[in-house]
Amino acid sequence: MKHPVPSIAILLVLFCISWRSASSQTSSHSGDAEGHQWWQHAVFYEIYPRSFADSNNDGIGDLKGITSKLDYLKDLGVDAIWISPCFPSPQVDFGYDVSDYENIDPMYGTLADFDMLTSEAKKRGIHVILDFVVNHTSDQHQWFLDSKSSRTSAHRDWYIWRDGKGPGQPPNNWVSTFGGSAWKFDPTTNQYYYHYFYAEQPDLNWRNPAVKDAMFDVTRWWYKRGVAGFRLDAVDTLFEDPNLRDNPIQKPGKNAFGDPFEEKKYNTKLPEVHEVLRGLRQVADEHNAVLIGETWTADVAELNQYYGQSNNELQLPMDFLFTMVNKLSPAEFRKQIAAVDAASGWPTFVISNHDIVRSYDRYGDGKHNDQIAKLMAALYLTLRGTPIMYYGEEIGMKTTPPTRQEDVKDPIGRTGWPKEKGRDGERTPMQWNSSENAGFTKGTPWLPVPPTYKTHNVADESKNSDSVLAFYKKVLKLRHTNQALLEGNYKAINEDDANVLSYLRTHKDQTVVVVLNMSDSPQKLNLDLKRNGFASANSLLSTAKSTAKGEEVQLEPYGIFIGQLIK
Ligand code: NOJ
Ligand code: CA
Repeated sequence: MKHPVPSIAILLVLFCISWRSASSQTSSHSGDAEGHQWWQHAVFYEIYPRSFADSNNDGIGDLKGITSKLDYLKDLGVDAIWISPCFPSPQVDFGYDVSDYENIDPMYGTLADFDMLTSEAKKRGIHVILDFVVNHTSDQHQWFLDSKSSRTSAHRDWYIWRDGKGPGQPPNNWVSTFGGSAWKFDPTTNQYYYHYFYAEQPDLNWRNPAVKDAMFDVTRWWYKRGVAGFRLDAVDTLFEDPNLRDNPIQKPGKNAFGDPFEEKKYNTKLPEVHEVLRGLRQVADEHNAVLIGETWTADVAELNQYYGQSNNELQLPMDFLFTMVNKLSPAEFRKQIAAVDAASGWPTFVISNHDIVRSYDRYGDGKHNDQIAKLMAALYLTLRGTPIMYYGEEIGMKTTPPTRQEDVKDPIGRTGWPKEKGRDGERTPMQWNSSENAGFTKGTPWLPVPPTYKTHNVADESKNSDSVLAFYKKVLKLRHTNQALLEGNYKAINEDDANVLSYLRTHKDQTVVVVLNMSDSPQKLNLDLKRNGFASANSLLSTAKSTAKGEEVQLEPYGIFIGQLIK
């Protein structure tokens, strides 16, 4: 089943609790001459390490593989890489079940390989960001093994243990977002422990100050190793109602896992999370580091809460509402961009990641997919804010879900089949060239390489000036060299146009216009530049048949025109 976003994402985004208001941008680091921080000008790139580049041909990507591709990333225009978890892990959730926060899983290499990666990245001016799984550990983490060993163990209160309501009855009705009860009975101590995700991912008890101290120390440990920040996993789920009140049922029926639809009122987005985020931010500020958040907010008011009342929480809470605009609709994008542009902090734009269907499929019409991929690049890479790319997006990689349940690797795809096929489809190996296994490995890749590697791969697209990759490079180059695109304010124009999304980016006396035809027919429009004090636009980057003359722009289907305005 092709779905715009997996049901897990839909579940996560439905949370809605509002409790605080927002305020203006501050930071303890002075930044550049204009006060901008490094992470505001940087283009981030998410690497799913299992799938990026395999240096030892065991079929699984690794750190040395990433290091070998740094020149590629530099040339592409990437300033920071976010590596999804590469710590020791039983890999139940492919690394999001961490059994040791201060090491590297042998399948990915060693700490020495990590140090080599950061030092090579630094030589190229690329920051390295790690993924910090704050909500839960693996059930194989020493903390949990000790915690479950007895009711009086030193780590007992590091996790959430409770008696059941009665024999065979969990403490309350909370369901795991990955299916089934969120409580697992452990016969050793005759109590249940709480897990928002898989049972192998027990939730940490963040109300215990020892947990907080240990986790804060983890960040210090990595900062000392040269890490420039963290993407914080699942921040919405850090705290639970201490009284364990039952969640209300949202609507009748059952989800893909056969569970009731619950409003996660008592186990997500509790206000206590903000104190933790302020603390993590204080540590980050001591290292000029950035905190990116996996923040499934219902609206921009909620997003504002994650920036913090004095912008003292997350610098870059991701705006997933942008990924929810699942059609090429200028009106809907206009609305969402305006909302996040008016947020209390610096916007963060994402169109794909390892949990959602790739943008290539969400927007592609099956006929003009490459052109549409360029259009989407022209959109999110020219907006005011920090973009986070996802590996393979720059070559037009496609989501390729398994066709048989027995081939599924992601556990939610096995338990939720066929409604929920899991996330394998957006995690397939990077397509480097047209040789066997797309040049990702000489072994057997952990997930099959999609057939599209023959047409969409780095080597071939590098030679083709009309490829998706060539366009990404051009737009990233323009973004890095154009002050208006880097810092300029955003202003929507031609707001009634149902087919074309147009906006201005202005910095001091420089203005760039971006005109994007989101329809499959040619479009002609008047930009009404005089109203903004300009006479015409000189093309900076446009598709072959998209041009401007005076105030008028002509665009081919899905055409792009990015121009410098002149008086
Ligand atoms: C969010 C991550 O992005 C996802 O991949 C993971 O399964 C959950 N958090 C649990 O850690
Ligand atoms: Ca490997």
